Amino acid sequence: MAPSPTPADKFSFGLWTVGWQGRDPFGHATRDPLDPVESVHRLAELGAYGVTFHDDDLIPFGSDAATRDAQIARFRKALDETGLVVPMVTTDLFQQPVFKDGGFTSNDRDVRRYALRKVLRNVDLAAELGAKTFVMWGGREGSEYDLAKDVQAALERYREAVDLLCQYVIDRGYDLRFALEPKPNEPRGDILLPTVGHALAFISTLAHPERVGVNPEVGHEQMAGLNFAHGIAQALWQGKLFHIDLNGQRGVKYDQDLVFGHGDLINAFALVDLLEHGAPGGGPAYEGPRHFDYKPSRTEDIDGVWASAAANMRTYLLLKERAAAFRADPEVAEALAASKVAELGVPTLGDGEGYAELLADTAAFENFDVEATAARGFGFVRLNQLAVEHVLGAR
Ligand code: GCO
Ligand code: MN
Ligand code: MN
Repeated sequence: MAPSPTPADKFSFGLWTVGWQGRDPFGHATRDPLDPVESVHRLAELGAYGVTFHDDDLIPFGSDAATRDAQIARFRKALDETGLVVPMVTTDLFQQPVFKDGGFTSNDRDVRRYALRKVLRNVDLAAELGAKTFVMWGGREGSEYDLAKDVQAALERYREAVDLLCQYVIDRGYDLRFALEPKPNEPRGDILLPTVGHALAFISTLAHPERVGVNPEVGHEQMAGLNFAHGIAQALWQGKLFHIDLNGQRGVKYDQDLVFGHGDLINAFALVDLLEHGAPGGGPAYEGPRHFDYKPSRTEDIDGVWASAAANMRTYLLLKERAAAFRADPEVAEALAASKVAELGVPTLGDGEGYAELLADTAAFENFDVEATAARGFGFVRLNQLAVEHVLGAR
């Protein structure tokens, strides 16, 4: 029996996840709208600690000031009643027709200025609600037609936008950092900053790179055929894992946003192990919210929505428990040693050694037994089987 989720587990959900009505390109909504206030109460009952939202999830687009204030007040009241926090806020720059060619990188300059104003307003709200992370998913920042988008100019405009937002939070004294969320495609044919690697490279060009990290989503890397746990490892290694979107995806296809673990379960196991324990060589663990960005499948009714929300947390906790058992298993320790996993943590050069000493070391080359070393197996398959058996509860 996995323990039930408690706020100490730091599980959070977007309002747009449980609130998704099941509308897709081929079919109408299958569920009624959900009041954000009800979502806050239900998520708190299920053991979540946080709730996140796009501006338009909470405040219908185009609301007048009085409606906006009233809606924020209702939401705040629900937070106070439940103790739920708002660790992250994000802005919707993709649903409204005005953003059909993007927000920060629309070819239309007026749209870019409007998009910045919309985000600045929402940054103020994020700071007011105590959010520490501001996610930016550029779902419409991209193109379908190569000749219709100057990608280099678009990246300049993207940088201009992120630099301006960083300057704003610095000048306002907000304790807020930005996290870019990569995705290769959908809704655009090709989206800018398609992978964790592209986003990390982009961040290094910014005026305030220390303010900006990534919010990788399981399915988005997998849509590009990439290994999510590898992407997370690199983001952690570079100190850039500011936030994470957990969900499930089955292979290179449309964005499925399944429940966490309902895709590549063994990769999810490696991910939870990494987030909870850090890298075997001493690399950092992840301290931030365990945020679920999934969609309750449109086949489900409202009971199925809450069951799927609970399933995300339960799967995470089960994998966490399995990862702890894996780490504590003496046979695993032995298999890890046989596979030399920890040896990768040993620097290739000795203390004070440079290329001159390496060149002088005959054991490294002249007397190195290439054949004998090449003949030795690493035992990775045995190690992986132990992991599979732990996931299956066989050990
Ligand atoms: C997706 C995305 C979005 C973003 C969210 C934050 O599934 O394509 O994950 O859900 O995470 O909109 O802006
Ligand atoms: Mn997604
Ligand atoms: Mn996401």
